[in-house]
Amino acid sequence: MEKLRIGVAGLGRLGKVHAANIAYKIPNAELAAVCSIVPAELDYAKETFGLGSEKLYADYRDMLKDPDLDAVAIVTTSSEHCWQIEAALDAGKHVFSEKPLGVDVDQCLLAEAAVARHPELTFMLGFMRRYDKSYAYAKEKIDAGEIGTPYLVKATGIDPEALVEGAIAYAATSGGIILDMAVHDIDLMRWFLGSEATEVYALGATFKHPEFQAAGDDETAVAVYKFENGALGFLHVGRTAPHGYHVETEIVGTEGSIRISAVPQKNLAQVFNKNGVCTEAVGSFPERFDEAYLLEMEEFVNCALEGRQPDVTVEDGTKSTVVGFATTQAWKSGEVVKI
Ligand SMILES: NC(=O)c1ccc[n+]([C@@H]2O[C@H](COP(=O)([O-])OP(=O)(O)OC[C@H]3O[C@@H](n4cnc5c(N)ncnc54)[C@H](O)[C@@H]3O)[C@@H](O)[C@H]2O)c1
Repeated sequence: MEKLRIGVAGLGRLGKVHAANIAYKIPNAELAAVCSIVPAELDYAKETFGLGSEKLYADYRDMLKDPDLDAVAIVTTSSEHCWQIEAALDAGKHVFSEKPLGVDVDQCLLAEAAVARHPELTFMLGFMRRYDKSYAYAKEKIDAGEIGTPYLVKATGIDPEALVEGAIAYAATSGGIILDMAVHDIDLMRWFLGSEATEVYALGATFKHPEFQAAGDDETAVAVYKFENGALGFLHVGRTAPHGYHVETEIVGTEGSIRISAVPQKNLAQVFNKNGVCTEAVGSFPERFDEAYLLEMEEFVNCALEGRQPDVTVEDGTKSTVVGFATTQAWKSGEVVKI
């Protein structure tokens, strides 16, 4: 079987997930090298995946010189993505990059230019929710006309209170709650509505952890969007869900609506006891989107081996970033922002 030999750059929270999927769960992929600026993560890769020392790179550009690699998966800090995309494509490697595409629009345009220069190579951005079976099913239903014309997407994403200390520590450098949390929701609104956002109004609030405001951030934000085709979007992001990781999306159409994960349940078990009937909630993003991370990487591998491009494009990355910046500007200024 032909295999795509992939080098994974970045072995933090998500890099470990992608590396394990490539190494163990995708038959036509091979984890051929890793790169990290953290020595302990290279040790982890050596022990966990049995990679030889010559396949552990501390320098990304050195990894790109490895002739044994067909592709790279970029799972590094967001500010590194765009130059790493450009360098990998120019070195002749297929590229999977985690979202966000970049942390500013100029960077995104550099990545777009590199993708345009290399139509012979596959590029994929990690908007994995599009590969989650429930979201993909919703999209199929919408495209089949089962809810008529979709005119509103309500997107909720609230991180668990159990992880709030990490969010506080990261608040000053995250780019703000909207850029940090909402890019998937923004991409989904565009995808489901088949239109681009033209206008946004946004507000933030902090009731529980004043540390967020001290860092120039907020623990909750909401935004309302108007789209080019007249449709509407409503976004709610937050950091303090007491019950777990709450990601919920509703698409409302002229003939019906679809709700995805209205109760973000952990599994199908219900506990009947003195507290009543309890369904536990999913606890974190890796748990909720476990299968989607695998499915998106399988699609990347198949695209690269078959000479195809995936449905998620580099332009999707730029457009979501543009909308994310406009939303942040609206939140900071308290004014309606034209996009
Ligand atoms: N799709 C999703 O749902 C999702 C979820 C979480 C994170 N992400 C994205 O994935 C990326 C990584 O997130 P994370 O939570 O794993 O971060 P993390 O901080 O845990 O890990 C980042 C990794 O990047 C490495 N790194 C940084 N600069 C590097 C460089 N120049 N060369 C090589 N390695 C470098 C670090 O050593 C570390 O291994 C981020 O861009 C984040 O936005 C996406």
